[in-house]
Amino acid sequence: MAMDTRLIGYLTRALDHEMAAVQQYMAQSRLCELWSVADYCAHFRQDVTEELGHVESLMDALLRLGVSPHATQLAPVRLGRSLEEMIAIDRVLEIEAVRLYEEAAAYCTRVRDFAHHAVFDRILRDELQHLEELDRMEASLRTKEKRYA
Ligand SMILES: [Fe+2]
Ligand SMILES: [Fe+2]
Repeated sequence: MAMDTRLIGYLTRALDHEMAAVQQYMAQSRLCELWSVADYCAHFRQDVTEELGHVESLMDALLRLGVSPHATQLAPVRLGRSLEEMIAIDRVLEIEAVRLYEEAAAYCTRVRDFAHHAVFDRILRDELQHLEELDRMEASLRTKEKRYA
């Protein structure tokens, strides 16, 4: 079977994204530890674990296709100077992920590659959940602000 270069392109772009997300969430988790906000430190650490799960799925898919997986383009880490800024920055990251996985899944539907569609779709659902979590975190920060105002 001929190599689907477009599919490999999506898998590789996704791997770049996930490795960058791991780096960003890990750095934010450590920064929250320094700021002594333990709940946010734990939250970002949990994100690292979930994004690493995505790295694994993508690497498995690339390896099954006979491609050696390696991220080549890591986006720079953006930390944020406050929790509000962190959440805003992470929202951008997650929206980019959702767009990428929607496009990749739509491509797989078009070429009737249902196995890889399932890979992208599973990760897409997680990224949508990450966005919802960010919404919840933002709302709880706003409530705290009101309480202290
Ligand atoms: Fe992810
Ligand atoms: Fe995510």
